Amino acid sequence: MRLWPASVFISCMLLGVNGFAFVMQGAVMLHNPTDMGADKEQATTFLTGDGPIMNEIYRPQFHFTARKNWLNDPNGLVYLKGEYHLFFQHNPFGREWGNMHWGHAVSSDLIHWQELPIALSPDSNGTCFSGSVVVDKDNTSGFKNGEEDVLVALYTGEGHGQCVAYSNDRGRSWTRYEKNPVIPLWPDRDPKVIWHSPTRQWIMALYIEQGSRTGTKGIGFFSSKNLKEWTCLSEIGGFYECPDLFPLPVDLDPQKIRWVVLGGDGQYLVGQFDGTSFKPESELLPLDLGQNFYATQTYSDIPPEDGRRIQIAWMRGGEYPGMPFNQQMTFPCELSLRTTPEGIRMYRYPVKEIEKIAGQRHSWKEISLSPGKNLFDGIHHDLLDIHIDVKLQQNHRFLLRVRGAEISYNAETGKLVSLGKEADLPPVEGRLRLRILIDRTSVELFGNEGRVSMSSCFIPGSEEFSLTCEGGPLDISQIEVIQLNPSPGAPPLDEKK
Ligand code: FRU
Repeated sequence: MRLWPASVFISCMLLGVNGFAFVMQGAVMLHNPTDMGADKEQATTFLTGDGPIMNEIYRPQFHFTARKNWLNDPNGLVYLKGEYHLFFQHNPFGREWGNMHWGHAVSSDLIHWQELPIALSPDSNGTCFSGSVVVDKDNTSGFKNGEEDVLVALYTGEGHGQCVAYSNDRGRSWTRYEKNPVIPLWPDRDPKVIWHSPTRQWIMALYIEQGSRTGTKGIGFFSSKNLKEWTCLSEIGGFYECPDLFPLPVDLDPQKIRWVVLGGDGQYLVGQFDGTSFKPESELLPLDLGQNFYATQTYSDIPPEDGRRIQIAWMRGGEYPGMPFNQQMTFPCELSLRTTPEGIRMYRYPVKEIEKIAGQRHSWKEISLSPGKNLFDGIHHDLLDIHIDVKLQQNHRFLLRVRGAEISYNAETGKLVSLGKEADLPPVEGRLRLRILIDRTSVELFGNEGRVSMSSCFIPGSEEFSLTCEGGPLDISQIEVIQLNPSPGAPPLDEKK
């Protein structure tokens, strides 16, 4: 990840993102849309990007943060010509929410991000709220004017409605459509656009504050042939902000496709979408049970030979005292649908690219851990990818402590607890598998291959690293602790004290 030189870091400004949703919603309605944006000149002066980087104590090393200042929702996640784009809600002027611009970063591997100049600044249609980007390969919009495929962004102009911008240079510069807003509905917001190939049209899922058909908060589905003129098709109630809509094969079976619709907090429905309306086949289900998971979005235009559905969320509410930046994204995860005894469920699991930063490995196989012994004694690192595969007896409990964060499992109750949040996770055939990613300020826990995910932020409080058990010796099939390499420029752990 490229960041700006340490010498220009500003220090501690105000904190306080707890209770953010309320504060922010107030601000959404009261904010003056005529506020001026960061002009490009000013914004780009932050972006030299070379030199000593990433050396702050709470700077995540393999999670995206803005070099400086506030970020919230991931926006416009799109893949084009070897680059994963990550646009994001950004306040270039401060560490708190406000003055929404679209920040921009690119990566070739979803791990190392390079922050680019701001993509969208406020204009006469207000500040730039969340939205999505698609590759308009067939130039349905008519915006293409060169060799490159045209990128089209649909986003919300605060106070005005849904707007369009396009880029003919792989997202480096953007032009506003002169007829904005294309859907003059506000405070409806956060358009997520997909290409629906069976009906050969664009579909937009839009958060609707008060549905004209449902009368409640929910998602409206719109269609368009050209990304400019939109028709409202249907609505579904029971969702809040940042919708997403996509198909996935069940159990990797291409003949068994289901659609998923989800809202900002990751709650989702599985069902059918025919290009007009969504028919649920499940109840509303949670995707992540951690403390800090919001405003999810999945990538558009992942090449078919890759075929993954990759999701990033904002880790809303983390705290970063004294840092020049505020807020981080989750690690990118792959989503899949699998049949479980409870029905079809969405699984969430870290993308395989994390292997690129794997360093020293510590492995244990087919051993038994006695109560009171610490398996991880002597390992000292702050960036970790931990794989645990254990066989459990009825009365087993085990506890993982990492730098002050606690994860525990109780085989009797089937409860997994991560930083105080709880999830039910029954062992499968007496086996429990956990995967845990630890970065400087986050703990992401995946149970039984992603059946449960829990994304949480923390402020490290100690250097303790331990795995202990109670209720009898723990039967370890395999445990691997992989130390992850920090971003280039980050000092080793000891120098940070
Ligand atoms: C979600 C959200 C969106 C809005 C954006 C503004 O976190 O409230 O609904 O577009 O943030 O920053």
